[in-house]
Amino acid sequence: MNTTEEMLTEFLLREPLGSSGRTLQRELYLRLRQAIVSGRLAAGFQLPGTRTLARVLGISRNTAEAACQQLATEGYLLRDRRGARVVFLPQPAPGAEIQKSVKTYQAKLSLRAQAVASGSRRRQAPLLFSPGVPALNRFPLRRWSNCVENVLKTTGPALLAYGDPCGELALRNAIARHLSLARAIPCQAGQIIVTEGAQQALELSVQLLTNPGECAWLENPGYRGARTAFRQGELQIIPVAVDEEGMCCSPELWQSSPPALIYTSPSHQYPLGGVLSVARRFALLQRARETGAWIIEDDYDSEFRHTGDPVPAMQGLMTEPPVIYCGTFSKTMFPSLRIGYLVLPPQLVEAAMPVLNTLLRGGNRMTQLALAEFIERGYYARHLSAMRRLYRDRQLALRQALRDAIPCRHQIVGGGGGMHLSLVFASRLDDQALALQARRYHMAPAALSDFLHDESHLLSGLVLGYGNTSRSQFTASARRLGQLIAAAQR
Ligand SMILES: Cc1ncc(COP(=O)(O)O)c(C=O)c1O
Repeated sequence: MNTTEEMLTEFLLREPLGSSGRTLQRELYLRLRQAIVSGRLAAGFQLPGTRTLARVLGISRNTAEAACQQLATEGYLLRDRRGARVVFLPQPAPGAEIQKSVKTYQAKLSLRAQAVASGSRRRQAPLLFSPGVPALNRFPLRRWSNCVENVLKTTGPALLAYGDPCGELALRNAIARHLSLARAIPCQAGQIIVTEGAQQALELSVQLLTNPGECAWLENPGYRGARTAFRQGELQIIPVAVDEEGMCCSPELWQSSPPALIYTSPSHQYPLGGVLSVARRFALLQRARETGAWIIEDDYDSEFRHTGDPVPAMQGLMTEPPVIYCGTFSKTMFPSLRIGYLVLPPQLVEAAMPVLNTLLRGGNRMTQLALAEFIERGYYARHLSAMRRLYRDRQLALRQALRDAIPCRHQIVGGGGGMHLSLVFASRLDDQALALQARRYHMAPAALSDFLHDESHLLSGLVLGYGNTSRSQFTASARRLGQLIAAAQR
C-alpha cells in the first residue's frame, strides 16, 4: 500500500464499514464526506481510482463508484480522468465562533419584526375570564363533524387542488346571505374574501390600501391585533380617544393627521363596549369619502347583542361606502377554525381582485365547505341563538358577582353585547400587576391599560371575558379578584 492508501484505510476503516447498519455505499459516502468537511481530506487531495479504493477497503467497485459519484454530484469531489479531487470548501469555524455567529444572526431580526413582537402577548391556554374565547364546551361538535365528514364523502380528490384564492364559493354565498339578513349589508359573494381569521383580513386591508409612513387611526383603547397589523405595514399609528359614543374624530385630527386607514369596532367598541352613534357614523363616512380614507369596520362579536336590536353595520349605511367590513367566525364558532372574511365595497372589487388573487392561495377548502354546510343546514343560526341566550345570562350574572365583590370605586362597561365586561377603576391601580397576579388563581383577565396605544395611562381596569367561564365560577372568582384589588390598593 502506498501512503495515500494507508492513510485512507486508517481513518475510513477505523470501524468496520458494515458496522453501522447502513449500506456499505451510504457508510463510505458519509465517512468520506465527514473527512472532507472536517478538513482531514484537504482541498486538492487526490483520491485513488474506485478500483483501488474498492480493493483497499474490501468492498465492490460498484459500491465505491456509487459513493464517489454521489459526492461528486453534491460537489465535494471533482472527477476527471485521473480520478477524483477534493474541492475547496470554506473552513468550518470552531465551535465558539459558530455560537457567536448564531447569536449575531438572532440579533438581526428586522426592526419591523421587533416592533411587531413588542406588541404581542403570549398565547394562554383558556383560563377563567380569558377575553375573546367563546363557550367551547357548548359547541355542537357532532353536527360539525357530520358536516366535515359529508364534505369529504361527497367531494373526492378534486378538493385537494388549489381553490379559489378568495375562498370557496359555497361559503362566500352563505356569508353573503347571512350578512344581508343579520347585518343589513346587501352584498354579493364576489365582494367577499375568505381569510385566515380577522387578523389576516386586517393585514390584507393594510397591504391593499396603505403605503408605509401613512397615518392610520386606531381607537384608544383599542384592539391590539389592529395595532399589530398597522405596525407590520409600517404605518404611523394615531391613537383616537373613545367615549361611550365610540371614536371621537375631531375636525382638528382630520386636519393634523389625515388618515389613509381608520380602524373601528362600531357595534361594540373593543374593549370599552360603546356603540358608535349614528351621527358619528355618518360624519366618519362623510369625511372619509371626502378625504379618500378607508374605514375598517371590525364587526367581531355583533351577533351577540344583549340589549335592544342588533346595531346595523356601517357598511350598509350608504351605497359605495368607503368601508371594508371585517368579520370572523372565531367568536361564533371557535377560534382555531381560523376563518374570517372581508367584504369589499363594490367600488373596490375590480381593483383589488388581481392583487388578492396573487397574494392568496385558496387553501383550507374542506373546512370552508364544512362551514358553508354548517350554515346552510341551519346549525349556525341555531348555535348563535343558543349562545346569545347563554352569554346574555352570563353577562348579567357576572355583573352581579362583580358588583358584590369589587372593593374599590369602579364602573362596569361593555355589557351591551359580546362576551366580555370591562371593569374600569375610578382611580389608577397597577392593572397589569393585577392581571399577572390573577394568573396564580387560574384567571386570565386582560389589563385595560394594555389596550392603550400611547403612554397616557388614562385607564386602568380589567377586561373580563365570560364566554368560556361558567356561571357557577363567577362568585368565587369575583371574590378572589376583589381580594387582589384590595391588596393592590394598600
Ligand atoms: C376586536 C377583535 N377583532 C377581531 C378578533 C378576531 O380575531 P381572529 O378572527 O383573527 O381570531 C378579535 C379576537 O379576539 C377581537 O377581539
